[in-house]
Amino acid sequence: MKRPILAANWKMNNGPTAAKAFMSAFLENYQPPGDRTVIIFPPAVDLITVAAATAARTDVIAGIQNIHWAEKGAFTGEVSAMMAKDAGARIVLVGHSERRHVFGETDAQCAKKCLAAAKVQLPFMLCIGEKIEQREAGETEAVVMRQLREGLSQTPNLISAEFMIAYEPVWAIGTGLTASATDASAIHTLVRSELKQMIGTRANEIPILYGGSVSASNAAGLLAAPEVDGLLVGGASVEATSWLTIAQT
Ligand code: 13P
Repeated sequence: MKRPILAANWKMNNGPTAAKAFMSAFLENYQPPGDRTVIIFPPAVDLITVAAATAARTDVIAGIQNIHWAEKGAFTGEVSAMMAKDAGARIVLVGHSERRHVFGETDAQCAKKCLAAAKVQLPFMLCIGEKIEQREAGETEAVVMRQLREGLSQTPNLISAEFMIAYEPVWAIGTGLTASATDASAIHTLVRSELKQMIGTRANEIPILYGGSVSASNAAGLLAAPEVDGLLVGGASVEATSWLTIAQT
């Protein structure tokens, strides 16, 4: 049994003041079940705050929601993998659906970001997932497999790289429509078998998380589903009390 991963993606919510209050409330009340890792992905401006609050722990870590693929230079508004690491990020999200569909990020760009993270030994979590029209057209498998293969295509020594996959069907994000545990398991099983093609038995160690309208009421069922190694939570992770319930599921 892998260590479950419970990940909070605050998206563009909670500035440094709110982040500090959240971390105090969460860490004061969190009773770690002992078997899991909690990741908080705050906005970049909160990273130092969240990293400082979790510095003494190995079971609660800070991540960054996005990086640029270049090491440094004239890229106004962007943050590099090394800068994120320097500020305390211990993992980076790559290719979140909002990056892909609101900001037009491509599979090729995701691949460059995974490479940039791997180069500085910053673990990454590659997000994949189909849109509703793709699902209705029967293209789910093709879309998800393409995002997986292309996203990982530039990472050197993939077999020894530190990474995770998050399957987040776009139609389930922020809509209250959750994939059933059976549907999530089916896609996770496909992802696992594709990873086996790429990296053999190491695939068994790669956490595959589910995301999309996870809440306190559906978290336990999803987490218990075969091949679901963790949850990536948006809306229900922004407030400490709600997140506490899910993190302790
Ligand atoms: P919601 O939990 O708000 O549906 O968001 C999911 C998500 O995008 C997490 O990365």
